[in-house]
Amino acid sequence: MEFTIKTGSPAKSKAGILVLGAFADGVLPAATANVDAAAQGRIAHLLKRGDLEEKAGATMLLPELAGTQAERVLLVSLGKQDEFGDKAYRDALGAAAKALAATPAKDAVVTLADVEMEKRPLAWRLQQAARILADGAYRFDTLKSGKDKKDKKDRGVRKLTLQVEAELTAELDTAVRQGQAIATGMALAKDLGNLPGNICTPTHLAETAEALGKQYKFDVEVLERADMEKLGMGSFLSVARGSHQPPKFIVMNYKGGKAKAKPIVLVGKGITFDTGGISLKPAAEMDEMKYDMCGAASVLGTFKAIAQMGLPLNVVGLIPTTENMPGGGATKPGDVVTSMSGQTIEVLNTDAEGRLILCDALTYAERFKPECVIDIATLTGACVIALGKIPSGLLANDDELAAEILRRGSDSGDRAWQLPLWDEYQELLKSNFADMGNIGGRYAGTITAACFLSRFTKAYKWAHLDIAGTAWVSGDAKGATGRPVPLLSEFLIGRASAD
Ligand code: BES
Ligand code: MN
Ligand code: ZN
Repeated sequence: MEFTIKTGSPAKSKAGILVLGAFADGVLPAATANVDAAAQGRIAHLLKRGDLEEKAGATMLLPELAGTQAERVLLVSLGKQDEFGDKAYRDALGAAAKALAATPAKDAVVTLADVEMEKRPLAWRLQQAARILADGAYRFDTLKSGKDKKDKKDRGVRKLTLQVEAELTAELDTAVRQGQAIATGMALAKDLGNLPGNICTPTHLAETAEALGKQYKFDVEVLERADMEKLGMGSFLSVARGSHQPPKFIVMNYKGGKAKAKPIVLVGKGITFDTGGISLKPAAEMDEMKYDMCGAASVLGTFKAIAQMGLPLNVVGLIPTTENMPGGGATKPGDVVTSMSGQTIEVLNTDAEGRLILCDALTYAERFKPECVIDIATLTGACVIALGKIPSGLLANDDELAAEILRRGSDSGDRAWQLPLWDEYQELLKSNFADMGNIGGRYAGTITAACFLSRFTKAYKWAHLDIAGTAWVSGDAKGATGRPVPLLSEFLIGRASAD
């Protein structure tokens, strides 16, 4: 989608569709008042009559509104004026995005970013608008044949203008470009997540990384099984033993910052399908385990976003990727494996495989002398039980880093919530036969998984995002969400502007 910002009179805007906001109490933001005046009070009249529902995000379409130059006007409720905040603003944008994806209009003028907010400046509002509107145009139909695909292709806005009253500045333009870049990164993460396990294999992820590196000119190296054996990644390789697909270890190196600046390292879990291994999962909804590489996808998506923005920052991306299958060579419950760190692990449940591939990647991360490390993983079903599908779970060995991630989460609308990583939980990982077991029993599954990882992250500041609940949605609208690309991108934008 093409984006521009412009100033001018909304009533005079020529467009297939003009998007205006309205508060539930009948108050009109400046842009809407401007159009209402040209339309001789028609909008105020309809609002008074109660034609637009009060809830933020309710919409009403007005075809050929007299006095305007647009073919149609989409009126979007902003909710009550005294309750107008991040959530109502995003709900309004989300509703507009949905309508713009389905309209026959080809170009739109959107005025929602111009609505004043007490706590959020115009640049923030523009970044959010660009991201949410661009993301709303996302479709995944590459695997469908047939007519309904073509019909849908003909719909949806291609050109979008964000209209504001303020004078245009470089800062505002950057905000829009950031929003667009984040949406592009989310689209990549969604595509990879939505692709099925027979297409999105470890090899496919490696090829995607290589293509990205070529396009945006950053280094990509892919380690093969033999390389990993030499490095002693016995824990990671133990997960790959049951699969016919070769495992890959992807190393991406984006050098946008000063040569000597320490990199931020992102590590993404890349299980391209999780059957559970010999500790086989039940059949119901097992198809959703194609999403078990969404951590990896979010690292790739974030790399795409930051490379497109050209952030002045050094970032390393590490992706251990394999299938988790119950083949004849598969690891068995009770097997003991040796990780790259030298610590031994009793694999009590082969379905707790994410931590087994991540721990070797976290040890590998030490060689970069990182500023900090963030791993992203669809790690535990327990996280979905604890937090549902609203925030990602956050655990960290450094409270400042955790606070920074929480803040960037609420700034971006891609939130996380912290759980404790107290020492008392460590004893649940005790094993009679190795340094640790790979599971901690029934209690606090998200915390014991993070406790396991914490044994491999002592050399640096580290945070762990459990995205089991947030990476995709189930049911009728089944699909990847592209999270936490917005959170990670916002975090990196913040770091890039800090020095
Ligand atoms: N990929 C799963 C976690 C998962 C399950 C994410 C359901 C989203 C929805 C992970 O590899 C796993 O199987 N974890 C086990 C750990 C257990 C064996 C300690 C789990 O959560 O059941
Ligand atoms: Mn598993
Ligand atoms: Zn898994």
